[in-house]
Amino acid sequence: MTWTLVCGDVMRKAVAAGALVLAAHSPAALAANDDAAEALAKAGNCYKCHSVEKTKKAPSYKKIAQKYKGKADAEDALIKHLSARKAVKVEDGGDEDHEPPPARDAADLRNLVQWILSRG
Ligand code: HEC
Repeated sequence: MTWTLVCGDVMRKAVAAGALVLAAHSPAALAANDDAAEALAKAGNCYKCHSVEKTKKAPSYKKIAQKYKGKADAEDALIKHLSARKAVKVEDGGDEDHEPPPARDAADLRNLVQWILSRG
């Protein structure tokens, strides 16, 4: 049981590392698992404030991806942002809590972040 988890995580990390190397050559090639990412975004109520294309209560994922384009620490910064609850200012000026999504494990969360970063 534990071994399967550990191995799976190592494998996914290896795959993610490979995807990053690929991405350096072709920016659109981040190999996020789209279905898993969208399911997690839905489960986490992210679409209440975000959309892929349009600014709602929060910047679109496209805008976020563009903001982080070319930044080496983008993944880590967004993982940190999504790992803890914190207050954010929404577009209409109020304060709301930013809740972490219900990710199964670190790889699941990283997949969501990679998906967001490949929307730009
Ligand atoms: C209550 C509204 C709300 C919900 C729900 C919400 N967000 Fe956000 N989010 C915001 C706002 C507002 C910002 C911009 C302010 C900021 O970055 O501090 C933001 C910023 C972000 C950023 C960019 C952070 C950065 O460093 O630029 C990411 C990535 C993000 N959200 C992902 C998510 C995900 C994934 C979910 C679902 C688990 C989610 N958000 C749910 C309001 C929300």
